[in-house]
Amino acid sequence: MPDRPAVLFVCLGNICRSPMAEGAFRAAAEAEGLEVAIDSAGTGGWHQGEPPDRRARDTARRHGVDISGLKVRKVRAEDFSRFTHVLALDHDNLADLRRIRPAGAPAEVRLLADYIPGRAGEAIADPYYGGQADFERVWADVTAAAKGLVAALKAR
Ligand code: 4NP
Repeated sequence: MPDRPAVLFVCLGNICRSPMAEGAFRAAAEAEGLEVAIDSAGTGGWHQGEPPDRRARDTARRHGVDISGLKVRKVRAEDFSRFTHVLALDHDNLADLRRIRPAGAPAEVRLLADYIPGRAGEAIADPYYGGQADFERVWADVTAAAKGLVAALKAR
């Protein structure tokens, strides 16, 4: 188990929600001076090696965050010992993570929205078949979660 916090954000494709969560959380952690390792991954492997979806990149850029250098990868068993927190964007992702997780692996596995006050247990909706408003909603959600997560990790 690493000493300092290490957070992995996980969605289905690793092209929309989890790279936006990674970018929003990196910005929030830097702003608060929190030292933390950060990555994102997908439960599905269709887009491996690709950058985030253009709409996710554009949304992050509108909010001053560059996620264009990120590359899709699939979640793997060792992630559950390399990261202190493995955070799912929705309930399907969470169920998949619980299935993949090796027995006894130390990472805390839960929903990202658990860190948004009043929204524990909720999903962050997949914007893939949506429009710009859906991507903006994801950005607002992952930014709110990033703030709560930074506060929780600072109190750790
Ligand atoms: P994400 O969105 O899980 O937020 O990255 C999706 C990306 C790709 C697909 C579905 C959702 N897909 O079916 O390829």
